[in-house]
Amino acid sequence: MNLLLIGPPGAGKGTQAKRLKEAYRIVQLSTGDMLRAAAAQGTEVGLKVKEGMDRGELVEDALIIEMISDRIDQNDCKNGFVLDGFPRTLPQAEALTGLLADKGLALDYVLELAVDDDAMVKRITGRFTCAKCAQGYHDEFERPAKDGVCNKCGSTEFKRRADDNEETVRTRLAAYHNQTAPLLAYYRNTGLLTSVDGMASLDEVTDQLKGAILRG
Ligand code: AP5
Repeated sequence: MNLLLIGPPGAGKGTQAKRLKEAYRIVQLSTGDMLRAAAAQGTEVGLKVKEGMDRGELVEDALIIEMISDRIDQNDCKNGFVLDGFPRTLPQAEALTGLLADKGLALDYVLELAVDDDAMVKRITGRFTCAKCAQGYHDEFERPAKDGVCNKCGSTEFKRRADDNEETVRTRLAAYHNQTAPLLAYYRNTGLLTSVDGMASLDEVTDQLKGAILRG
């Protein structure tokens, strides 16, 4: 099964993609995670994109499309994938349709997490992850069971993203509305799009997403 999650920064794409990945034994493909890994490793691509990402701007289409096409060719994607953060522009969406068709694949569901912009700043500026296993947390909504200790691996080191400050979040929200929101009409026209209430609790959102998949 091939899924696509769409929604503004902070909508819960990463959080829900991890849950769907476990539930359906598919792979999470997050272009943001791939780019941050490239930046951390100091690869040519990473060095090229880091500054723009830290300002909250989108990375150029051609680079992203090649990166995701190569990733889908890898063996672990054979059972399916959940796309998180891609496509983000109309050219990326059109390229995805074409490259999947070339590989004999297609999207099965496009799931929109519909949220209020105002709540996203609070969600994003409160977010942090375990520095060792990348488990996600939030200062208010998802604290570790024992303060300062990762639930999953016991590490006591945590980190925050360089682009998770209020000013950059506003730039990222503007990029979403200008460049990504038009994709909703694109996918509505294909009959693939279902919207769920991304303002509900984390578990309720997961239930809504699974419900949309069950209903087909
Ligand atoms: P990316 O990493 O994709 O970031 P983003 O889209 O800005 O999304 P986020 O990761 O911030 O939010 P999310 O929706 O995953 O929310 P999360 O689940 O963490 O992209 C970063 C950058 O990379 C871009 O700005 C761009 O520069 C570049 N890039 C990436 N892909 C690109 C592309 N295709 N083209 C061009 N450039 C690209 O949730 C946030 C917090 O809220 C968490 O703490 C979570 O616990 C909490 N939360 C989530 N849901 C709920 C809920 N229902 N109730 C309460 N709390 C909740």
